[in-house]
Amino acid sequence: MTRHNLAVLASGRGSNFQAIIDAVANGYLPHVTIRVLVTDNPGAYALDRARQHGIEPMVLTPRQFSSRSEYYNAIADEFRKRDVSLVVLAGFMRIVGKELIQAFPNRIMNIHPALLPSFPGLHGQKQALDYGVRVSGCTVHFVDEGMDTGPVIIQAAVPVLDDDTEETLSSRILTYEHQIYPEAIRLFAEGRLEVSGRRVIIKGAAAGEAGLIAPPLPADPFPRQ
Ligand code: GRF
Repeated sequence: MTRHNLAVLASGRGSNFQAIIDAVANGYLPHVTIRVLVTDNPGAYALDRARQHGIEPMVLTPRQFSSRSEYYNAIADEFRKRDVSLVVLAGFMRIVGKELIQAFPNRIMNIHPALLPSFPGLHGQKQALDYGVRVSGCTVHFVDEGMDTGPVIIQAAVPVLDDDTEETLSSRILTYEHQIYPEAIRLFAEGRLEVSGRRVIIKGAAAGEAGLIAPPLPADPFPRQ
C-alpha cells in the first residue's frame, strides 16, 4: 500500500494531533508518517508534542511574510519539499488560503466540533448550547475555500445534556473527535475516500464504517408492512 506523509497544522494544545500521533504509534495508521507539524503560534503546546515524538516542528507565522498568499505558498512549498500527501488541520485557527488548498486539492482535512453545516466557525459547542439542540457532535471534512463548508467525511452524533456547560459538552465531543479523526485518515490512507460533488463516498464500507457514529436507532414503534 502507498505510504503517506502527513503534515499537521495546529495553533494550540493539539489534542487531536496527539490522537493522530497515538494512532500511528499503536499501529492503527500503519502506512502513515507524520512528517511535520506547522504552527502559526510559537507558544502552541502542539510544538512540545511534536518534539516529544520526534516530529519536525516548524513555526511559520503570517507576520514573517509580506502577504497572506505568500504565507500559504510558503507552507505549500514546505509540504511539497517533504513529499506530503495529506494535510491535517488540528485546531488551526485560520481560514486556509487558496494557495494551499489548490496545491492539495481534496487532500486537506479539518475537524469541526459540531455537526456541519450547523454551527460553523468559532465556538461550535457554545453555538449548539445557545441554540438548544439535543444532538450535536463533530465532523471531519475536506477543506475548500469556504469556512467549514467542504465535503463531509465522517460525523459523530453526540447528545447535549440538560446540565451541560460549554466545558462538559466540549469534552464529550472531544472524545469523539479523537476517534473519528484517525478513522478518516485511515480511510484516506487506504485509498477509500472518493469525492463526488459534495459527497464523499467510502469505498468498500463494511457495517460500522458508514462515516457515521451515532446511538443505535430504537425499535420502530410503528412498524410498516
Ligand atoms: C477542536 O475542538 C477542534 O474540533 C477544533 O479546534 C479544537 C482543537 O483542539 N477545530 P485541539 O488543539 O486538537 O486539542
